[in-house]
Amino acid sequence: MEKKELLYEGKAKKVFTTQDPDALIVSYKDDATAFDGQKKGTIVGKGAINNRMTNHIFKLLEAEGVPTHLIEELNDRETVVKKVEIVPLEVIIRNFSAGSFAKKLGMEEGIKLLSPTLEFSYKNDDLHDPFINDYYALALGLATREEIDVISKYAFKVNQVMQKYFASLGIELIDFKIEFGRYHGQIILADEVSPDTCRLWDKETHEKLDKDRFRRDLGNVEDAYQEVFRRLGIQ
Ligand code: TMP
Repeated sequence: MEKKELLYEGKAKKVFTTQDPDALIVSYKDDATAFDGQKKGTIVGKGAINNRMTNHIFKLLEAEGVPTHLIEELNDRETVVKKVEIVPLEVIIRNFSAGSFAKKLGMEEGIKLLSPTLEFSYKNDDLHDPFINDYYALALGLATREEIDVISKYAFKVNQVMQKYFASLGIELIDFKIEFGRYHGQIILADEVSPDTCRLWDKETHEKLDKDRFRRDLGNVEDAYQEVFRRLGIQ
């Protein structure tokens, strides 16, 4: 499979068309942004780590019954994926207080929640991805009730599988963001699962091993990504 034309360039990835109308090639960049692109930087080696980590996790999820867009890893940075229509919702699951949740509710970070939460943001950079609920999504025509139910079911399943898997690597899955797409009428998991899109803390030391090191200028950003990748044990 070869790249034809650049279809879209996002903040962290480029997407190319291929000779197959149902397949795209995603190319992961080292570029990092935060706060709607106001903060920009580079995390050396991030593209390869996020590509390989996403594919590794997507294979685990497929084996557990969550369909994904993964077709084939081409090389360190590039993967062939199913061409989906992205549902314009960021789906966020939280197991511990952190980030915007902790701020909004006046909580310290790292408090275990009594049950996992699910929330939606409307994917719209101009509006800064506002928090919405399922009724807003329905009212705005972003997804149908059936799609929202399937998305919610898969999101909790992803949480269950990833929480257990990361725990086996000595990592606490604090929260994460995922995105889904429509592929021939089916909802499948798309986009990525990486330290850009998850909060991952060392279980013992609670050291942050994710993009918060970049967002908050905590230093050792590359080391954190490398450490997560090392624990995955991918050859
Ligand atoms: P939040 O606490 O800032 O709302 O973030 C929740 C989770 O979503 C966290 O794991 C980081 C991830 N996230 C993204 O993947 N992209 C984003 O643009 C934002 C704001 C958060």
